Amino acid sequence: MRFAKREEPNRVNALRKEINDTRAAGNPEVFKAGSKKPQTHGTAGSRGGNETMNREMVKKTERFLKELFDASPFMTAHPEDRAYRLEHTYRVANIGRQIAQAEGFDETEMVIACLLHDVSYCEDFGETGWKEHGRRAAQIARPFLRELGLPEERVQDICYGIAIHVDDVADFEGERTPFALSVGDADNIDRFDAYRIHERLCGDGFREMPLEEKSAYVTGRIGKLRGLMNLEMGTAAAKKLWQERLSFYILFYEKLEAQLNSSREV
Ligand SMILES: [Fe+2]
Repeated sequence: MRFAKREEPNRVNALRKEINDTRAAGNPEVFKAGSKKPQTHGTAGSRGGNETMNREMVKKTERFLKELFDASPFMTAHPEDRAYRLEHTYRVANIGRQIAQAEGFDETEMVIACLLHDVSYCEDFGETGWKEHGRRAAQIARPFLRELGLPEERVQDICYGIAIHVDDVADFEGERTPFALSVGDADNIDRFDAYRIHERLCGDGFREMPLEEKSAYVTGRIGKLRGLMNLEMGTAAAKKLWQERLSFYILFYEKLEAQLNSSREV
């Protein structure tokens, strides 16, 4: 078995080391670098009128995902995790759809890929299994995608994108197409928007920190976030969305920093 080539392992590892959360602390922020390869176009099913997405195939995918989540002992025991994962999945699917529209990818295929990117959360990862969840999600998705009737080449592209979305590594041979890279890009874009500001602050115990610790924390966050502004993405559309959302994210922390600076004296 040949593993996918990692193009910028040092950069990826440095970014990951710098900003990853542990799973125990909440929802990890994992990054990967992207690279452009010739685009491949999908061949998803029929569409009516002005509809640019095959609703029937998307509905089938939603049912598949929800049935696995519903049957999952882990998610039954952790209903808040189920709710978060499903909501995050829909946000990623909507971001993926935006990227697909801008880049001319097949919207149905991109939405399906994004809906399934975290399907492996139906399983309990244990203490060490989290980093495998992209590769595991691809394994779960592949037979379903074949059942949907997608051509094998499209199944491969979708599965490759799902497999590499966590740590940029697949356990099967594949190509880093812009389509495949877009799955992880959509995931990362959702990690840096309004929802995650709140979640991150709660997860890191910001509210309980003394003032000086708060200031140091916020200044540190701003520095790290600025360093991510030019992170490479698989497409120009993803880069634009990334920079828009990250700019907002940074602006929030800059305003918070200013507020903290006026919290000591008059
Ligand atoms: Fe994921």
